[in-house]
Amino acid sequence: EQGTTVSGTRHFLRDDDLSPAEQAEVLDLATAMKKDRYGYRPFEGPQTVAVLFDKPSTRTRISFAVGVGELGGLPLILDAGSSQMGRGESIEDTARVLERQTSAIVWRTSGQERVEAMAAASSVPVVNALTDEFHPCQILADLQTVREHFGSTAGLTLTYLGDGANNMAHSYLLGGALAGMHVRIAAPAGYRPDPAVLRKAGEIAVGTGGSVAVLPDAGTAVADADVVTTDTWVSMGQDGKEQRIADLTPFQVNAELMDRAARGAIVLHCLPAYRGLEISADVLDGPQSLVWDQAENRLHAQKALLHWLVSQSGKGGRTP
Ligand code: CP
Ligand code: NVA
Repeated sequence: EQGTTVSGTRHFLRDDDLSPAEQAEVLDLATAMKKDRYGYRPFEGPQTVAVLFDKPSTRTRISFAVGVGELGGLPLILDAGSSQMGRGESIEDTARVLERQTSAIVWRTSGQERVEAMAAASSVPVVNALTDEFHPCQILADLQTVREHFGSTAGLTLTYLGDGANNMAHSYLLGGALAGMHVRIAAPAGYRPDPAVLRKAGEIAVGTGGSVAVLPDAGTAVADADVVTTDTWVSMGQDGKEQRIADLTPFQVNAELMDRAARGAIVLHCLPAYRGLEISADVLDGPQSLVWDQAENRLHAQKALLHWLVSQSGKGGRTP
């Protein structure tokens, strides 16, 4: 069984906490929920979902708040600075308090070991809402967007350009491989993916018919790609902005580069976007860009994920 499990509880800390079949199940549910947006009320009675932020957020905050509400639950949004965690209360003690009163814990924080510690101490599902290492909720939304446009994901080539060592690159590797895609990461030396993540994605791809590759050249990586995507060159918490911009400038997604992609290629960006840096304004705002569908799909994909996790893990809330 995939995923971190504590007493049968399913968590979503990395993309590969779902098997390929489970990822497809969640994405199918996301499609159904988008089609019948107000028809699903799977949370029986008011059930609270804690949504914790140690870093800023627009889309994740909005989509979890709206999504939990649409499922008939109560979103409890907490910023680190306004909780005792900000003053040093432990992750484990926080989990013990939350698991008795909530159906799930959604957390955006820095190190992956922090969400792992929360999951280890929690009897309700823990969802990674972005760590330094992974952003798996975003990739579900991206895959939903790819499915909507192309009908499926298997066999398509997705090229990600820029910071190949960040959370988006790692989640594209794992999530894309699970979906049977050919994932190419184009990044310069010093910005390449964690070898352990790359290796794991490669193993997954063997089973799904996908593949993974890291390439040093943007043009080669984009050749005949169906999906071209990028992310900010300076993630939250990173410094050395000027150096990063200098190093990553050859990996900008722009019209000239898009000429090399497949006919009918689409452009994704998790947002927020920095026009003129990782992506040119004409491409981000142009006809190939599906970024607003992608941002909306955070809502549908996460509703499906929460519903799936809570139902997999029993009734939600603590079993006395
Ligand atoms: N894409 C994404 O996670 O956006 P936010 O940082 O605004 O939540
Ligand atoms: N890589 C970016 C993603 C923002 C949604 C960051 O971590 O800041």
